Amino acid sequence: DTINLQEIHDTLVAIAFEAGRMILAADPSDISTGTKMNSADIVTETDQAVERMVSSRLQTAYPSFAFVGEETYVAGTTHITAAPTFIVDPIDGTTNFVHGFPFACISLGFTLDRVPTVGVVYNPFQDLLFTGIRGGGSYMQRNASHQLPQFPPQRLPLAGKGDASRAPALGKLSAALVAVEWGSQREGENFEVKARTFRKLTASNENGGAGSMVHSLRSLGSAALNICATAAGQVDLYWEGGCYAWDVAAGWCILAEAGGRMVSGNPGGWETELDSRVYLAVRGAAAGQSEIVEEFWGVIGD
Ligand code: IPD
Repeated sequence: DTINLQEIHDTLVAIAFEAGRMILAADPSDISTGTKMNSADIVTETDQAVERMVSSRLQTAYPSFAFVGEETYVAGTTHITAAPTFIVDPIDGTTNFVHGFPFACISLGFTLDRVPTVGVVYNPFQDLLFTGIRGGGSYMQRNASHQLPQFPPQRLPLAGKGDASRAPALGKLSAALVAVEWGSQREGENFEVKARTFRKLTASNENGGAGSMVHSLRSLGSAALNICATAAGQVDLYWEGGCYAWDVAAGWCILAEAGGRMVSGNPGGWETELDSRVYLAVRGAAAGQSEIVEEFWGVIGD
């Protein structure tokens, strides 16, 4: 059977809008049912309810495809294989959702041979939709669920941020806007690496400082939306060590179709895997962007 990627895309967009309505209708003040690793690792009943809805819709539409979801993942047991697989984060940005900070999304990825092939990321608070189909480009649409004719999908990267088919100019690290996240791991070497890296990226180069002094750091609280912002060209790079395949699968396809690239957050990892957990998303055609990546790896590798 041939797999119809457009049909999968359309199914995922419809599910994303349904999830968005559930998320907007939920009351974030009384839904926190507990935490996973520590008090910064939050899960809510809405995360679980949205994942149940998504998995039942996908099970009905594509009964033979595999499903990996954040809330039903079992470490050591759940694996991403070469099979057609949906990889789902029901709410990416749960902390924002709980606080009512309007920056959270549903992230719906589809992989073939472990390659991100369809991606749908939808922020219901802004009614902002990002989509990508491998080989078909990626798009951002405002007022997406209302389908207003004055807000047609915009091809990514956004105008003025390069052309996905060429290698757009991306300056030095010192001219970059960089997304980073604290994540929920707050102890040990993992935490030290983050704190050190953020310092090196922001410290002034003057007076003997060791940093690269990027324009600034942004911490939006959603890995998927960080990757989409990179695809759009709204930020130049996004670095995180500690997220999972469901945080990145959908955005990965959207970024690649915008001419960007996911590489490893660890120095030297030009080829990286969906479940490598340490990522650097780079806007622009990565082949022409080795300099800024090398510069970034140089800073974090010190
Ligand atoms: C988290 C968010 C956050 C990132 C964490 C993720 P969740 O996803 O994407 O920005 O720093 O690594 O786990 O828990 O909100 O789905």
